[in-house]
Amino acid sequence: MLLSVVVLLILLAALGWLWMQLTVSPHHFPPLVPGFLHLIQDDLPCYLLKLTQKYGPLYRFHLGIRDVVVLNSKTAIEEAFVKKWMYFSGRPQTFAIRLVNKDGQDLSLGDYTPLWKAHRKLARFALLYAQNNLEPLIEQMIQDLCKSLLAHNGTPVNIYEEFLKFTCSIICFLSFGEKVSYSALFPSFNDCIEELLLAFDSWQVHILDILPFLRFFPNPGLRKLKKMIEKRDRIVQKQLRWHKETLVEGQTRDLTDYMLQKIREQGEGPDELSEGHVHMTLVDLFIGGTETTASTLTWIVAFLLHHPEIQRRLQEELDQELGPGFSGNPPNYGDRARFPLLNATIAEVLRLRPVAPLAIPHCTKQTSSLCGFDIPKNSIIIANIYAAHHDDSVWAQPYDFRPDRFLEPELSPVGIPFGCGPRTCLGERLARLEVFLVLAHVLQAFTLLPEGSHTLPSLKPVFGTNTKILDFLVRLQPREAEARVTTSGSSL
Ligand code: HEM
Ligand SMILES: *[C@@H]1O[C@H](CO)[C@@H](O)[C@H](O)[C@H]1NC(C)=O
Repeated sequence: MLLSVVVLLILLAALGWLWMQLTVSPHHFPPLVPGFLHLIQDDLPCYLLKLTQKYGPLYRFHLGIRDVVVLNSKTAIEEAFVKKWMYFSGRPQTFAIRLVNKDGQDLSLGDYTPLWKAHRKLARFALLYAQNNLEPLIEQMIQDLCKSLLAHNGTPVNIYEEFLKFTCSIICFLSFGEKVSYSALFPSFNDCIEELLLAFDSWQVHILDILPFLRFFPNPGLRKLKKMIEKRDRIVQKQLRWHKETLVEGQTRDLTDYMLQKIREQGEGPDELSEGHVHMTLVDLFIGGTETTASTLTWIVAFLLHHPEIQRRLQEELDQELGPGFSGNPPNYGDRARFPLLNATIAEVLRLRPVAPLAIPHCTKQTSSLCGFDIPKNSIIIANIYAAHHDDSVWAQPYDFRPDRFLEPELSPVGIPFGCGPRTCLGERLARLEVFLVLAHVLQAFTLLPEGSHTLPSLKPVFGTNTKILDFLVRLQPREAEARVTTSGSSL
């Protein structure tokens, strides 16, 4: 009797345990946000930031059969991309990405594989090679930029256009050497890339991942995207052909030559890099390296128009270090520690308006965990850099423009505008070099003034693949003239 009671109790306990195992999942996933149309919201970075009030800095939602996990804090992003990079360095191969990826040969959208690692290394070395001794050339191009600005003679200028011409010329020179001038390649290539990004970003294309059966229906967005991809490839192909035809063994004119030679050296094979990889590296440099840097520069100008006191202090800093106005010595990137306020201003604008606010989506290669939550394999990971930079537990009054917060680096942690870990931006050094030198030159030579006394530019970010600013004009007053006015004024 006693024995059967004991057996019964043991049996019941075992059943209870089994029931627990079956009903309570051993996993502890991030909170789930219901709904499935999140990714097609306007102002996506802000929308995702707002969701943190209810769900915390880490949450997920469903995209078709996959999970999208959104990271909205610097701690979470660094834990994923730096500490656990082995698990978080993949790229999802969504429908749209597979279309633009050219058989998986793209660098920025390629999944993390041994071949991709070789590709990234090739691109990194090619860029380093081409950047070698770049500063005198940039110097020259900035002189041209300043001349072009001066030629406007005080009439208002669309400064974004000027900056874009500048950043395109740099990438054009690095990629194709002196042979191809800016005007030969642009603006047709620029327009093509811009339209390609717009089409890539459209809900008509995103929706095809959520509702795959729609791929069988006519879709103007998709048609546009395919057309732009073809145009893109024709333009790049033409440059590649010219380079191959004129390549002289042992002579490296630019980074295209560099990559073509490296690929010839290693031979051909399915596990080797091919000309398609060179092709896509060039595409990536043009997409990654032109509008991003030009937009950052334009944002800085806009913030300075709103904060003339900061502009005045920047000019004082430059005058003190280099001598005043147009005739002063040109600034050097190596000396940037001598310009702490300029450095802090750049850091502050990159914090407030990171031009790639959601980075590029990552993807988990294996099951992992983040901030104590389980993250399944094959999840799409979105790093909301914009949200991380507006975290009030990290930066006091995160929405205010206050470069001074970065004057004492030990008091204020830096942002992560270029991402972090093995997928970090390949062009960070080039971008920082360009931004620093252009600003130093422009502010040394000119005072930036709004178009009219009551027409400050809007600081509202326009989110897309890049964070854009609405068009605005700026007047550039040569500081030479300013100096003349003040001296003649004082002599009276
Ligand atoms: C202010 C300017 C720039 C900013 C804020 C910026 C930011 C970023 C960010 C956030 C990423 C994604 C990182 C990730 O997915 O984790 C990225 C990737 C990338 N950027 Fe930039 N970028 C800038 C300029 C440039 C320039 C000048 C170039 C090229 C010369 C460039 C080339 C690339 C490439 C190739 C990638 C893909 C890297 C990979 O997937 O491994 N970027 N950038
Ligand atoms: C520029 O400012 C950032 C942010 O405060 C800081 O981390 C960095 O060390 C500064 N760089 C130089 C060269 O002063």
